[in-house]
Amino acid sequence: MKKVLVIGAGGQIGSELVIALRNLFGRDAVIAADVKEDCPDVISDGMYVQMDILDNENVRKYIIEESVTEVYLLAALLSATAEKHPDFAWKLNMEGLFTILDLAKEGYLKKIFWPSSIAVFGPTTPRENTPQYTVMEPSTVYGISKQAGERWCEYYFNKFNVDVRSIRYPGLISYTSLPGGGTTDYAVDIFYQAKKRNKFDCFLSENTQLPMMYMEDAIRATIELMESPIENIKIRSAYNLSGCSFTPEQISNKIKEHLPDFSITYSPDFRQAIADSWPMSIDDSRAREDWGWQERFTIEKTVEIMLENVNPELV
Ligand code: NAD
Ligand code: SER
Repeated sequence: MKKVLVIGAGGQIGSELVIALRNLFGRDAVIAADVKEDCPDVISDGMYVQMDILDNENVRKYIIEESVTEVYLLAALLSATAEKHPDFAWKLNMEGLFTILDLAKEGYLKKIFWPSSIAVFGPTTPRENTPQYTVMEPSTVYGISKQAGERWCEYYFNKFNVDVRSIRYPGLISYTSLPGGGTTDYAVDIFYQAKKRNKFDCFLSENTQLPMMYMEDAIRATIELMESPIENIKIRSAYNLSGCSFTPEQISNKIKEHLPDFSITYSPDFRQAIADSWPMSIDDSRAREDWGWQERFTIEKTVEIMLENVNPELV
């Protein structure tokens, strides 16, 4: 019987992933876990457990005793926060992964999802249409942890036959939960500020192009990857994945089509250097070939949905 545990379920991705997994497999088949004491309202229709992924002993005990079969491990520090707490970011982003990989190696878990990021690439990577296999010299602690994580996932698959699957998510755009401290967060905040103040001061410069994706596409990609037959999964580091790429200026122009008085200013901060080291667009042909990936959300559709749904009172 499938029993899914989502660790880091209270975050931007987790809160939507839990809903989607419960719709697919049933409410009782999906347990949400997070270090947060209280269960976020959006996922309170099912089981919630407070769990610290760094508490190796308890995590192991829970997974073994509850006969969990699959883990989606989302707990991590994202790029901007990680630069402020590099030691802790390394600890959180790596130790949790080993706990889960080892449980699968010992036969307690059938499948693992662990997300990687466009942050695995660095300033020496070709930035346009970045290939699946290319130079990877990440310059952030977050990117280094994701690249190391990818290497370990592939190693555990090759050596121990651990069925671990991963995607290099681009920046994700959504309105259910606020983002958790990334360099791409501006592309979410801009909608809240547009509705609240009709203006936005962007921490990246106007021409900084980054790969982005609407959350519904990201959740669908995650589930499609995880539900694909094992023989279709040919990459065990992480798949490149692409939705749409844009600059702050381009997205603000799209917002102006709905809110003509909206204005944007630019005050680049330390996140500019992070963004400048990342790809501008991604070649995701391997995801398309191997498990049939196809994005659905354009920038226009994303802007329309976000403006309709963000609740400015959340910020
Ligand atoms: P988030 O910061 O919104 O959520 C992370 C969740 O993990 C939070 O609810 C937090 O409380 C929880 N958490 C933190 N420490 C924990 C611990 N010790 N034990 C248990 N839970 C803990 O992050 P997100 O945007 O949902 O990202 C989830 C994953 O996807 C991360 O690995 C991130 O690197 C990756 N990712 C996200 C994006 C994006 O744009 N959101 C892009 C690329 C990759
Ligand atoms: N959206 C993430 C970040 O900016 C990319 O992994 O950190």
